Amino acid sequence: MIWEDIMKTVAKALLGAVSMLAVTVAAPAMAEPKAEVLHYWTSGGEAKAVQALQEAFKARGGTWVDAPVAGGGGDAQAAVLRARVLAGDPPAAVQIKGPNIQEWAEAGALGDLNAVAEAQNWDKVLPETIQNIVKYDGQYVAVPVNVHRVDWIWANPEVLAKVGADVPTTWDEFNETAEKLKAAGIIPLAHGGQPWQDATVFETVVLGVGGIDFYQKALVDLDMEALGSDTMVKVFDQMRKMRGYVDPDFPGRDWNLATAMVMRGEAAMQIMGDWAKGEFAAAGLEPGKDYICASTPSDGGYLLNSDSFAMFNVSGDDNVEGQALLAELILGTDFQETFNLYKGSIPARTDVPRGEFDACAIKSMDDMVSAAEGGTLMGSMAHEIAQAGAIRGAFIDVVTAHFNSDMSSTEATEKLVKSIKLAM
Ligand code: GAL
Repeated sequence: MIWEDIMKTVAKALLGAVSMLAVTVAAPAMAEPKAEVLHYWTSGGEAKAVQALQEAFKARGGTWVDAPVAGGGGDAQAAVLRARVLAGDPPAAVQIKGPNIQEWAEAGALGDLNAVAEAQNWDKVLPETIQNIVKYDGQYVAVPVNVHRVDWIWANPEVLAKVGADVPTTWDEFNETAEKLKAAGIIPLAHGGQPWQDATVFETVVLGVGGIDFYQKALVDLDMEALGSDTMVKVFDQMRKMRGYVDPDFPGRDWNLATAMVMRGEAAMQIMGDWAKGEFAAAGLEPGKDYICASTPSDGGYLLNSDSFAMFNVSGDDNVEGQALLAELILGTDFQETFNLYKGSIPARTDVPRGEFDACAIKSMDDMVSAAEGGTLMGSMAHEIAQAGAIRGAFIDVVTAHFNSDMSSTEATEKLVKSIKLAM
């Protein structure tokens, strides 16, 4: 946690004792609203989604300064953000989420959005799970833009049909289907060999092979017994199998290029969050016809990832006006529909009409409600909801080291316990 401590200390010093600036509702603009927006949405579907926000902002007279940092999963952007804050030059709006929002708020870096939240009744339209992510000390310090689900299989039905298979509903079926595909010379699993992607697959295996209670104990509670258990050894056994289902060119591949392999029928399946659906949508492909979405095998689990924009304390009326306008636009019902149709996610607001959303989105909406009611709604570790910073880094380092070596499951499990202990 050393880096986080340095960041907090320096950020506090740089930002001084600045109390959270109240980002007021977009009153009649005294200044032309302006916003520099730091994000990492650069793939096909992502870019269309962020373009929708840019256009809505400009339509209201806003000047948008785009600050994209390519790199799925956001680790590259996080480094840029830290550098910008430490240089005393934070962007006005930044796509961050989960514990990172809490850490930046604790460092006094974020403005509070209560005025716009009250004007738009956020307490009424946001699920409690989402409120807990974007509030710090009871104040709204970020505006949520969506709910992504992580535990999805994206499958090409024509490729599966070549071996007479359907989308697997258990991990045993997954392995049987993958072995049949491999025997037929077909790539079972399209995968990008980047640490955050390895961690994405890992957490769906923890959820399904370990079970939901195990996921809670190991990845959320950081229970050392669970982390070092035989169940974790079994999870790494399955990860070893998954390694055998990817093609030789997987190292370093971007996630959306893996999605394209499924689209083109070069591979049968991808395990990825539903930002992958944004790629299918951008290619004009239909769920249920051109591709199939199915939750990865688990007992009613749902791995939640939610993107938000946090408004950093910046000076200048134009910037403060821009932040208020962005916050107002992002949670507007029309924008919530437009953005999430492009992004592959579902609205953060619960009152957006479902009419335009496809079967995959409807499944996500329904599954999220039943998971919340059944206590099986889990925050994603790989995507910085359940964990962030050094602890998430410790998980990812061990998982990717295991995936890219012949490390045994027992050794990986032992390394995981040691690394998490060190990171706490
Ligand atoms: C996630 C993010 C998604 C998507 C994905 C791939 O962490 O929440 O919105 O961008 O990374 O980059």
